Amino acid sequence: MARHRAQLKKPTWIMVLLSLVCIFLICAYVYPPHNTAACYVFSSNGCNGFSKWLPPSPAREFTDEEIASHVVIRDILSTPPCQTKNPKLAFLFLTPGALPFERLWDKFFHGHEGRFSVYVHASKDKPLHFSRYFINREIRSDKVVWGKISMVDAERRLLANALKDPDNQHFVLLSDSCIPLHDFDYVYNYLMYSNTSFVDCFEDPGPHGSGRFSEHMLPEVEKSDFRKGAQWFTLKRQHALVVLADSLYYSKFRDYCKPGMDGRNCYSDEHYLPTFFSMLDPAGIANWSVTHVDWSEGKWHPKSYTAQDITVELLKNITSIGESVHVTSEEKKEIQVRACLWNGRPRPCYLFARKFLPETLDKLIQIFSNYTTIRIG
Ligand SMILES: *[C@@H]1O[C@H](CO)[C@@H](O)[C@H](O)[C@H]1NC(C)=O
Ligand SMILES: *[C@@H]1O[C@H](CO)[C@@H](O)[C@H](O)[C@H]1NC(C)=O
Ligand SMILES: *[C@@H]1O[C@H](CO)[C@@H](O)[C@H](O)[C@H]1NC(C)=O
Ligand SMILES: *[C@@H]1O[C@H](CO)[C@@H](O)[C@H](O)[C@H]1NC(C)=O
Repeated sequence: MARHRAQLKKPTWIMVLLSLVCIFLICAYVYPPHNTAACYVFSSNGCNGFSKWLPPSPAREFTDEEIASHVVIRDILSTPPCQTKNPKLAFLFLTPGALPFERLWDKFFHGHEGRFSVYVHASKDKPLHFSRYFINREIRSDKVVWGKISMVDAERRLLANALKDPDNQHFVLLSDSCIPLHDFDYVYNYLMYSNTSFVDCFEDPGPHGSGRFSEHMLPEVEKSDFRKGAQWFTLKRQHALVVLADSLYYSKFRDYCKPGMDGRNCYSDEHYLPTFFSMLDPAGIANWSVTHVDWSEGKWHPKSYTAQDITVELLKNITSIGESVHVTSEEKKEIQVRACLWNGRPRPCYLFARKFLPETLDKLIQIFSNYTTIRIG
């Protein structure tokens, strides 16, 4: 009898203790602790640690358009594009007219037929061509006004035309002043085997960053979502598709990010895609542009290289850069430096560079094989 009672006693004791703990936890759940002393009881991380146990505070209710847009985008992103036998890089040239570096690009493309396609959007004058790779490659184009949505429209037009070819798997946007920094194989492997797109993106709290945000973009785009970046992207096929599938965010930027908006100048080509991707697929973009440009002179326009500047040393310097640099536009001009990581490994950042004046062409052709030959070490 005595032995039996002792056996009963122990579990009862434990049950009572467990019930007390449960009641305590339920109370804590219903009346969450507000002072730090109470937080300390639950977790050494204070209230942050404890709040993880609570259900998330209800988020803003999405609009119909947002729900539709998110579901379409998520589905495209989670569906890998068809593997074709002959994957190609699509080179999208956005130019007002002439393409002064056609002969250099000809040298770059030569011998790699069938592994690339060229598309030209000439918004003002039909260019004269010097290279067979560019002849009859113009798409129907429209006027482009610098800083206006027509720039983004031209980018979308180029993407749409290039997407018609299912072999095109990665899309590179280039301007008339861009040059290649490596040979074709290097560029092809760098882009085709990258697990991200290269979209430039950073947070600039200054007047030329979030200072351009308009409250009209609410509720879908909040000020804290607003990003900045150079327009010269490379996109994987599924990212090119989501750009064309998007109308919700596109129309927000078309209507509320333009020169003179709310008394400020906003430029959609610098904000739409960085903001869009950082909201919908932040891990899918590298956050830097593979097209180098030199802003170090601190002027309104980047450095334009002249014939005198062109040396093997200059180009080797640019190809060896392994960190991307972003400078904010506030008074203190915060400098953000990040190592360029390709599929998680450090690698030089740049495949292309701008802005080169047409007079640099001959010198660049002369030294093309010197600077594109990679010597490790
Ligand atoms: C790009 O930046 C975002 C934050 O804005 C980050 O979540 C993402 O991981 C970054 N992408 C890569 C490839 O590091
Ligand atoms: C190349 O980089 C080195 C080291 O940073 C610098 O001293 C040199 O002036 C650069 N040359 C050119 C042509 O930019
Ligand atoms: C890309 O590859 C790196 C290294 O394997 C990995 O850490 C990263 O998560 C990958 N990113 C994506 C978007 O798959
Ligand atoms: C470029 O390379 C060629 C052949 O290797 C060499 O003869 C020439 O001097 C090099 N030019 C420059 C500017 O380094």
